[in-house]
Amino acid sequence: MDQLIESLDSDRNALLDDLLEWLRIPSVSSDSRRQGEVRQACDWVSRKLEQAGLSVETIATEGHPMVVAQTAPIEGAPVVLVYGHYDVQPAEPLEDWVSGPFEPTVRDGDLFARGATDDKGQVLTHIQSVCRWLSAGHPLPLQIKFLIEGEEEVGSENLERMLPDLAEKLACDCVVISDSSQYADGQPAITYGLRGIATYELSVDGPSQDLHSGSFGGAVMNPAIALCKMLASMVDENGVIQIPGYYDRVQPLTDQERRQWRELPQSDEAFAANVGVQELFGEQGYTTDERRWARPTFDINGLTSGHQGEGVKTIIPAKASAKISFRLVADQDPRELTQQLNEHFSANAPPGVRWKLVSDHGAPGMLANIDTPFAKAAERAIDAAFGAKPVFIREGGSIPIVTRFQEVLGCDCLLLGWGLSDDNAHSPNEKFRVEDYHRGIQASARLWNEIAKQVE
Ligand code: BES
Ligand code: MN
Ligand code: MN
Repeated sequence: MDQLIESLDSDRNALLDDLLEWLRIPSVSSDSRRQGEVRQACDWVSRKLEQAGLSVETIATEGHPMVVAQTAPIEGAPVVLVYGHYDVQPAEPLEDWVSGPFEPTVRDGDLFARGATDDKGQVLTHIQSVCRWLSAGHPLPLQIKFLIEGEEEVGSENLERMLPDLAEKLACDCVVISDSSQYADGQPAITYGLRGIATYELSVDGPSQDLHSGSFGGAVMNPAIALCKMLASMVDENGVIQIPGYYDRVQPLTDQERRQWRELPQSDEAFAANVGVQELFGEQGYTTDERRWARPTFDINGLTSGHQGEGVKTIIPAKASAKISFRLVADQDPRELTQQLNEHFSANAPPGVRWKLVSDHGAPGMLANIDTPFAKAAERAIDAAFGAKPVFIREGGSIPIVTRFQEVLGCDCLLLGWGLSDDNAHSPNEKFRVEDYHRGIQASARLWNEIAKQVE
């Protein structure tokens, strides 16, 4: 093991160059004009795995392709599946980036690029570690499979549909995912819970075209006002969501979890300063971590109506729309929410307009068992590579396919985030600390050994 770690240490530049190359490919899965580049990013990772000697397959979907790869099976040894995604979020607003989103640049120990932390930089740590095991001529002590997909950022619906057919190929004892964060700088974490998600577009239609607000104002319901009222009906001044039945299936936090989380080093002041707000706001009666990790939410992600250009335009817009989303926790069901929402909007829509709710994607929240040999192995590997024992946390983001892995593959789940919560995922100036990339590679290299030892 020491030799392997040494060789990783002496090869830092080459390991980083690989990541730079991958990050230069703008694989924005939601942008149909980027289809070619998404494909290139897929080909890049399949080539990388092929060169390392894995058997690799690119599997077409109705959307973007995915790469499945595996090392040789080993009789009696555990099988681990590494899941990650090569697609990225759109980079806009471009003017807020200090260097181009697809021109990866290192400043002050941070590597800036779209996809640096989410998720190319993180998933590449496992690919690099396996490549190094193989090229160093060490037989791996277990079998490793990879599933790297191109549609995580758009909901993984094709993968979800295809998963039962792929179950045999992907069969494993544990899926390892690095697509989350450490708890804080210098405090690595193992994540045992994620929130689910449900996304919608709510549109409101009024007059057949924009109207003069002088001639018609006061006589016709304004769709933008109607939309505002409908959205305002969703949450009260204490941050409590008003949809009847919304909290019925929410599993309350256990006292033990609350106690453990309160022991984590945290400061609301620092948290607020980091995001640039004067004070925090959230559901009354919960701490910031409880609100982010274990309580469901409602958010408006985008709002559109009427005149957006320069100056004044006195109109009643013909229509208004909002993109909205909910973060869900176990055992909330995204389909049940759709029904509750339709009923809620029916009761709260003003007269004189028509409204429509279109559901996009949904996924339930996830909780993982951490009393497993895999989590114990990860604790040791992380301690050795990061110089600190990981804490066990939940996180607020969503990885839509994880609960399906648990159900369809019947495997354990190990979420090992190498990122930091201020890495600006989905935001301008996304970054990944170069040091965390290398620590991640080393933790991964150690993990395979530790798992084999634990499961023996
Ligand atoms: N890597 C994130 C998920 C994540 C975020 C985990 C923060 C832990 C902490 C993932 O790429 C992501 O952004 N997922 C989307 C899913 C959605 C587009 C269906 C999300 O959470 O918004
Ligand atoms: Mn991700
Ligand atoms: Mn993401």
